[in-house]
Amino acid sequence: MSSFKQIKLHPVFLIIIALLLFAVGCEGPEGPAGPIGEAGLAGDTGAPGDSGATGETGATGTLACLTCHSDENMTTIETSFALSGHAAGNYVGYAGGRGSCSRCHSSEGFENFLQGGEGVDIASPSAWTCSTCHSNHSSLEDDLTVPLVLNSAIASISLPGTTYDFENSSNLCGTCHQSRRGYDYYEAIDSVWTDDVNGDDSLAFVVGDGEVYINSSHAGPHHGPQTNTLFGEGGYGTSSLATHSSQGCTSCHMGEADATEGGHSFNPNIANCNVEGCHTSETSFDINSKQTDFNTRMGVIAEALVTAGALSGDAIDGYHPHVGIVTDAQFKAFFNYMVLYEDHSHGVHNPGYFNTLLTVAETNLGL
Ligand code: HEC
Ligand code: HEC
Ligand code: HEC
Ligand code: HEC
Ligand code: HEC
Repeated sequence: MSSFKQIKLHPVFLIIIALLLFAVGCEGPEGPAGPIGEAGLAGDTGAPGDSGATGETGATGTLACLTCHSDENMTTIETSFALSGHAAGNYVGYAGGRGSCSRCHSSEGFENFLQGGEGVDIASPSAWTCSTCHSNHSSLEDDLTVPLVLNSAIASISLPGTTYDFENSSNLCGTCHQSRRGYDYYEAIDSVWTDDVNGDDSLAFVVGDGEVYINSSHAGPHHGPQTNTLFGEGGYGTSSLATHSSQGCTSCHMGEADATEGGHSFNPNIANCNVEGCHTSETSFDINSKQTDFNTRMGVIAEALVTAGALSGDAIDGYHPHVGIVTDAQFKAFFNYMVLYEDHSHGVHNPGYFNTLLTVAETNLGL
């Protein structure tokens, strides 16, 4: 973890500062326009020369560095980051070292992915630190934006060939917070084989036409399909793009920071909803009771899916996928339920699309 204090000690940094001071001065956050050029020299014939062109904008001064690198700002960020699920990394031990999981579940795995890796085992995986997401400035003169390890459009995992682009720093978030599996993976299972240790597998059963096999108690899009849902994709049913997708993740989850929300806690902050042209003076995420309605409909769908044999569990201990064969219609309802559940926003991310997914599930279950 770096701080401005550490940076100050670095000799290269001192030289850069010295150069900035001597060469361009240190006017402050946004360098003021440079001086008007001097009047031209008098011409040979004695006529006055043209006035000089306006000077170029002065280089950004060192104070600009402090808008981000001040001890106060860095301490606030570190405190806020300590509250984050990324800093806690509860599942790093479980998933951060495994080849098929590490690109999203450990700092080292993500670094390998950024270098073009295909997913590697990591011997001692660790949770996110500042440098999991941040690189260094490419230039201190021209590039004083926040340096990020990744800013490019997101390559979809569940829909190979598709990209999503928030056109801002949220592409970093979305690279990990997306579906790992589309419903087509489950639709494609047409037979199930025994897994014999000697490789002597035999056919266990055939999945008939009009049926789908839910093959694991973890079946579904996998735990963070937020990018897909924001782009109105991932479940059965379509809708127009949501207003929220133009926000990206960072404007709601970072933006304004207080002691427990926003900024580097990555917890959504209601202050970020109360923006002119968006929602005025809301005090909870349950805007117009949309979350209450969402949760009620989800509860009814879950119970019907238990009856259909697609889920097990109950409202108190929670539901999870139930291994077995269901009809196409039941599977569509199940998959939509899992997308909506694993999105974890209780309906906020894309209300219009979520209404479509809920309606498809309800219709397919005869509700
Ligand atoms: C818009 C915010 C912002 C501004 C302005 C900014 N930086 Fe940074 N800088 C960062 C972030 C974020 C990092 C990466 C996180 C970290 O290493 O602490 C970083 C990293 C660095 C590093 C690398 C530190 C390390 O340990 O790897 C140096 C050196 C640095 N900045 C110097 C400067 C200087 C000098 C200026 C002014 C000319 C400046 N920065 C302006 C946000 C900023
Ligand atoms: C390298 C992949 C990766 C990146 C990049 C990433 N996340 Fe995460 N995020 C995860 C994983 C994995 C978890 C769960 C961590 C755990 O519990 O071990 C998580 C947890 C979270 C949580 C907490 C969820 C909870 O249930 O408490 C939020 C909120 C979140 N991320 C939002 C963001 C935002 C916003 C960004 C972009 C600024 C982002 N993430 C960038 C992978 C990533
Ligand atoms: C494409 C990125 C990605 C891959 C690959 C990935 N995960 Fe995740 N996983 C996430 C994100 C993001 C979260 C946090 C989602 C949230 O909180 O909404 C998460 C959450 C989890 C959780 C917490 C679940 C919960 O209900 O809170 C577990 C457990 C998990 N992942 C296991 C795995 C395992 C095991 C693998 C490999 C077989 C894997 N993940 C592969 C992105 C990924
Ligand atoms: C999960 C990814 C992630 C991690 C981990 C992370 N940051 Fe950031 N950071 C971001 C993003 C995204 C932005 C916002 C960029 C933008 O404005 O578009 C940002 C912005 C910043 C800024 C400039 C804005 C501000 O609030 O001053 C600084 C400075 C910064 N980070 C420092 C840090 C430090 C120090 C750490 C470690 C304690 C850290 N970051 C950890 C993703 C991350
Ligand atoms: C319009 C604002 C908005 C946008 C855009 C948005 N989120 Fe959210 N997100 C929320 C709100 C609000 C909640 C929490 C709802 C609640 O707790 O009732 C939430 C919940 C979550 C959660 C679950 C957190 C937890 O503690 O369980 C994760 C993870 C998450 N969002 C990630 C993302 C990612 C990644 C993106 C971008 C791909 C994103 N969000 C875009 C507002 C937003």
